[in-house]
Amino acid sequence: MITAYKKHIVSALVLASSLFITGVASAQIITIPVETQHNALILQTDADKNLKMVYFGTRLSNTDEYTQIQKMYKQSDDSGVLNDAYTPSGSTNLAEPAITVIHADGNTSLNLVYVNHVITKIDDDVSLLTITLKDPAYDFEVNLCYKTFFKEDVTEQWSVIEHHEKGTVTLSKFASANLYLKGDGFWLKQYHGNWASEMQPEESKLMHGIKTIDTKLGTRADLYASSAFMISMDKPATEDEGKVLYGAMEWSANFKEDFEIDPANNLRLIAGINNAASAYHLKPGEEFTTPAFLYTYSDHGKGDASRKLQGWARKYKIVDGEGPRVTLLNNWESTYFDFNEDKLKELLKNTKKLGVDLFLLDDGWFGNKYPRNSDNAGLGDWQENRKKLPNGIGSLVKEATADGVKFGIWIEPEMVNPASDLYHKHPDWVIKQPNRPEKYFRNQLVLDLTNPKVQDYVFGIVDSLFIKNPALAYIKWDCNAVIYNAYSSYLKKDQSHLYIDYGRGLYNVMARMRAKYPKVPMMLCSGGGGRVDYGALQYFTEYWPSDNTEPLERVYIQWEYSYFFPAIASSNHVTNWGKEPIKYRVDVAMMGRLGFDIVVSKLSGQELDFCHQALKNYDNLKDIIWHGDQYRLHSPWDNDAASLMYVNSSRSQAVVFNYLVNNRYNSGTKVPIRLKGLDPQKKYQVKEINLYAGAKSSIGDNLVLTGDFLMKVGVNPDVNEGRTSVVLQLDEVE
Ligand code: DGJ
Repeated sequence: MITAYKKHIVSALVLASSLFITGVASAQIITIPVETQHNALILQTDADKNLKMVYFGTRLSNTDEYTQIQKMYKQSDDSGVLNDAYTPSGSTNLAEPAITVIHADGNTSLNLVYVNHVITKIDDDVSLLTITLKDPAYDFEVNLCYKTFFKEDVTEQWSVIEHHEKGTVTLSKFASANLYLKGDGFWLKQYHGNWASEMQPEESKLMHGIKTIDTKLGTRADLYASSAFMISMDKPATEDEGKVLYGAMEWSANFKEDFEIDPANNLRLIAGINNAASAYHLKPGEEFTTPAFLYTYSDHGKGDASRKLQGWARKYKIVDGEGPRVTLLNNWESTYFDFNEDKLKELLKNTKKLGVDLFLLDDGWFGNKYPRNSDNAGLGDWQENRKKLPNGIGSLVKEATADGVKFGIWIEPEMVNPASDLYHKHPDWVIKQPNRPEKYFRNQLVLDLTNPKVQDYVFGIVDSLFIKNPALAYIKWDCNAVIYNAYSSYLKKDQSHLYIDYGRGLYNVMARMRAKYPKVPMMLCSGGGGRVDYGALQYFTEYWPSDNTEPLERVYIQWEYSYFFPAIASSNHVTNWGKEPIKYRVDVAMMGRLGFDIVVSKLSGQELDFCHQALKNYDNLKDIIWHGDQYRLHSPWDNDAASLMYVNSSRSQAVVFNYLVNNRYNSGTKVPIRLKGLDPQKKYQVKEINLYAGAKSSIGDNLVLTGDFLMKVGVNPDVNEGRTSVVLQLDEVE
């Protein structure tokens, strides 16, 4: 069987313009630089062929000097293992390991020494370095893989573990990456959350010992913690200054990230699948490929690092990241489960009236014996509810097409309600302990995606929707439950494979879906932002940040996601949460993929006019928002108003969003906001847009300023309690 990893190598070889072995060797010391445009990670063998990580940071001008780095450090490390490039356990290493195994003969020791390395150039930008490490005492090897995106300064790192012992080896721990960072102190910015409060940041100095961020929820894995984080080195980085590493797991199931300040005061970072309850049995000749750990680094602050990651994601990761998106009207908040064909036909007309591209039918359209009229029944029975939709989805798609709008649909295919035909027909497809009471999360259980038959079934849900409705133009894929009582009837004796094989099964389904429907826009949703990671996002065009659409809250939530994910992937819907006027709600939703989830017929004439005007403006500016460079200007955490902007690649156009986030007396923008990313030589007309009909802007009609002025002095958007959100458009003028 050719595994995904081998296929990758094979295709790389086909594409490769060259395949070569490089590295600097001196007296048996081999130095392997892993370089991107601005950065370098330097690996080096010691006299015993142990592979060490000796440098991580900005590239050196003279690459010959990489060999000189290690000898400059006199930090004591008697064990000599703290900076292992992939720390084994059970032999001479006493530090937190990257890998732990039980060999076929029951022995638990592992040593890994350098054997060789190969660099495959995939194209001008992308290379894959594979380093093979072997245990001298056992026929056991690990391939460390570093896929570098040169221009973007991004690296994806993973490991491929294999053995040819006489029997099964148990992998007790299997990290994707093990980095060693040196610095004068390290600050971790991490994210915790819950339903409706995703991506809550905390930043603190790392002290000695191990700090762990992990999840054990199985599905909806990011509910309480995201795997995305930042590490500032030497001092806390700011938006434009300081050294900062961004990291995240490309994995949608359980992850674990350990941050250890070691006895030498350096940072050992170990990231991978969470090994909790996940011992993996590996037969001889089988490969265990870990998901990738993703990282980028900048010595110019958090803004630069985040633009690198956003650019990389658009170009290489999310589906159609450099393409367009649709605007839409969703019906979740306006109807919940309470709708029928007539009501939906009315909503299709409203979609047209509002002027968006697509109508997205949410939860509640399926189930007959167990109708989906609330969240306690129907999941698993993906047939149209005959009472609500006597003529099926097909007639709605037809009607939408006749109305000149597209049609999309919500599914939650990984899940099942006990009140469903599916549950009764296939109890063995459900994850639950055979001899314990069931425990539900939102009245539902998780289907066993380790089972290939269940994978076929889940793929079939999506496939048959498209086969029956070829004009279907959008899918919202939801996932609302965590895994309780983890047990799979399919896995039998390999129960500890469940979390890992679930993640792999999920990706199998998604990969099949994308192979057949490569470009259809699909939203990755998980009861809000319970699953936002690049492992899943490689199959999706966008994600749902949070069910919390209260616009003030969204300013903060979207702000924090924006460090790691590009605006084009952020689904921002205008809803009735909160008391802010329609303008504020639309202005906030415009900084991403814009949608609505409101009762259009309840909008006043003035509000509907405003939406039309805003949609026109969005149409003009969407290319900059989706594909331009994003600059965070004033943080909502430290100011009365939050400001951020997007600039196009030729720096001829920009848009600046400003939102009041403080309701106290006399709050507002007292000082100009210094813009970023403009051309100092160019002149820009600064114009306020998204105004109610007849409203006059207090910044004037004909403000023309140079990029130089706008970046050194700035512009005051005049945000105050009477102008709670202000959008400025900048156009180059002669
Ligand atoms: C949770 C999602 O986050 C919501 O947007 C909505 O689709 C509901 N599920 C439907 O049950």
